[in-house]
Amino acid sequence: MSSLFQTYTLNNGVEIKNRLVVAPMTHFGANEDGTLGKQERTFISNRAVDMGMFITAATLVAKNGKTFVGQPEALDDSHLDSLRETAKVLQAQGTKAILQIHHGGVNAQANLTDGQGLVGASDHTESGAKAATADEVVGLIQAYTNAAELAIRAGFDGVEIHGANGYLIQQFFSGEFNRRTDEWGGSLEKRLRFPLAIVDSVVTLKEKYAKPEFIVGYRFSPEEPGENGLTMADTFALIDALVEKPLQYLHVSLHEFDKKVRRGADTNLTRMQLIHERINGKLPLIGVGGLLSGEQIRAAFQTGWAEFIGLGKAVMVNPNIATLLKENLDNEIATELDPTRADQYGMPDILWGLCQQGGAWLPPVKGQEWKPLDI
Ligand SMILES: Cc1cc2nc3c(=O)[nH]c(=O)nc-3n(C[C@H](O)[C@H](O)[C@H](O)COP(=O)(O)O)c2cc1C
Repeated sequence: MSSLFQTYTLNNGVEIKNRLVVAPMTHFGANEDGTLGKQERTFISNRAVDMGMFITAATLVAKNGKTFVGQPEALDDSHLDSLRETAKVLQAQGTKAILQIHHGGVNAQANLTDGQGLVGASDHTESGAKAATADEVVGLIQAYTNAAELAIRAGFDGVEIHGANGYLIQQFFSGEFNRRTDEWGGSLEKRLRFPLAIVDSVVTLKEKYAKPEFIVGYRFSPEEPGENGLTMADTFALIDALVEKPLQYLHVSLHEFDKKVRRGADTNLTRMQLIHERINGKLPLIGVGGLLSGEQIRAAFQTGWAEFIGLGKAVMVNPNIATLLKENLDNEIATELDPTRADQYGMPDILWGLCQQGGAWLPPVKGQEWKPLDI
């Protein structure tokens, strides 16, 4: 049996001490100006121990992309000290600190953008977002690059480009959202341009800083519902392009590790297996989704479909889960939140409130029915 606690050396020579990764989790705990909040600090202060990597909450790259109350920001030098502090809090726990860089696109919240109008790949009726002009597209690529630059200057070990969960980058890739007829939309090749331009720009930045050790990862969602939504065939094209780039890892966003393909590939097989086969060893893959118990986590790793296992909800419920796994104390891993024990979890108030209400994307709560989000 391969062990979750074996090292992995990335293609840039950086050694990751084990195969466990804290999945990015928006916590709603940053200050209003996007700096490290008190509640955010509590949330991240003990969850990185014995974890190979810790990917931060989606962190904003441009004001008009702000999507969450209490979302961390990496907009300009006013955020530098706070980013430094965030990296320090994580690294002090012995993990690699990876900043997830994010723009909500049409899913941004108009009441959070300081009056700036929302933008997306194309006009979007429900949100009122407008299609970004060609100049704005270039500005958005620059915004991700600028956030990556702040991450480098702040001492982060890397960034993860958030190309998943229906946010801006995915909106450009998806035929459902992207109805452009210019160079940034239309054919599959053109829909790939925005994601790949961001990757290229961040990689060029890293070269400019002569920082080969800086980790650049990319997260994607493999499928979307909707007639023109992404299929596995689109995702294979994305993977084929990404593995040619000097990235360090890919990260798939799933709610269920074992979820089968919806369309665009063999529907009898899991998305994880086919994605891993398509990558074909060219980059390591982080797999994730509904792994709550020690048994589920270990079984997922044993499939061999992922070099790293990402944990979100399990880390919310068990801040010390990596230590429990390391010490083979699987029987001490809880798979539900105890709603009477807020003191145990150190969650920001908004996140704790959401957890109390229950939801398929949040951890199971003792005494409430739960099943994972089906997308
Ligand atoms: C509270 C919460 C916040 C999340 N925020 C983010 C985020 O900021 N960025 C992201 O890519 N995924 C986010 N996710 C998705 C997780 O990274 C993960 O993919 C998902 O929860 C499935 O894994 P899990 O079952 O181990 O939690 C979030 C999930 C939760 C539960």
